[in-house]
Amino acid sequence: MSEIKIFSPATVANVACGFDVLGFCLDSIGDYMVLRKTSERGIKITKIDGFDLPYETEKNVAGVSALALYNDLKPECGFEIEIYKRIKPGSGIGSSAASASGSVYAMNELLGRPYDRTQLTFFAMQGEVLASQCEHADNLAPGIFGGFTLVKSTEPLKILSLPTPSDLFATLIHPQIEIKTADSRAVLPKDIPLERAITQWANVGSLVHALHTSDYQLLKESLNDVVIEPHRKKLIPYFDDVKTNAIKAGALGCAISGSGPSIFALSKGEETANMVEKAMQSVYSKSEIKFETYVSKINIEGIKTVK
Ligand code: HSE
Repeated sequence: MSEIKIFSPATVANVACGFDVLGFCLDSIGDYMVLRKTSERGIKITKIDGFDLPYETEKNVAGVSALALYNDLKPECGFEIEIYKRIKPGSGIGSSAASASGSVYAMNELLGRPYDRTQLTFFAMQGEVLASQCEHADNLAPGIFGGFTLVKSTEPLKILSLPTPSDLFATLIHPQIEIKTADSRAVLPKDIPLERAITQWANVGSLVHALHTSDYQLLKESLNDVVIEPHRKKLIPYFDDVKTNAIKAGALGCAISGSGPSIFALSKGEETANMVEKAMQSVYSKSEIKFETYVSKINIEGIKTVK
């Protein structure tokens, strides 16, 4: 195989209480990438469609992660990368992660799968550093592993694949404002009160248990973020109204997607997820802010090869 086309899906990091460790993979939104082997060594980005991003390999997240793998394996060939960017950068649904993980996934396929998923996540992290100026894998692992993931540690990198209850659907609203991950990390305090930490780690533990047991009621009780959301929600207009409306419409929980501005909700059943979408839309419809919404099942496959 000398050429591959892949779909690299959007992801939701943090999942309310799991800042920098939890994430899940979406199904209905993502980028496409084409990778091609070349006889000339090195990595070239030959096409970027959709958004204005750098072509220099060292300045592009897909290029940087691809280089990390390439320099480790030192294959005899080179690669060309075409990026069909569909996830808006700065949207909070893993735009840079889709690029970073997509390029290493595709290269690995073309090279006969010399690396496992954890190693691919490690290479992808090198690209993600360029985008967010810090090493975290919570947006990368869901794309590479599919479904829900927990980043147990980054040094050494250890990722746990969590089960996905079959009737779980995500609703997302993406207000068309840009929040850079670095900026939304800058508003966070360095220390947190012990009492809040206790609530938060109890929520993470019970959320993981709820996923294992398909306990939707426990999921509802666990989807709460008392550490990060109080600081970050100030950056997202109408966040509280969207959350209140989503919960009223039947969502199990509603929180900031990654570093924002997108807001996600999880619901039991597609019908409820669709009602939550309408409830979220009604908030921003009354404002000047443009927005997009999505309803998606949880993608347990992750990045995949397409025709
Ligand atoms: N966990 C990260 C954050 C995800 O919330 O800052 C965004 O890259």
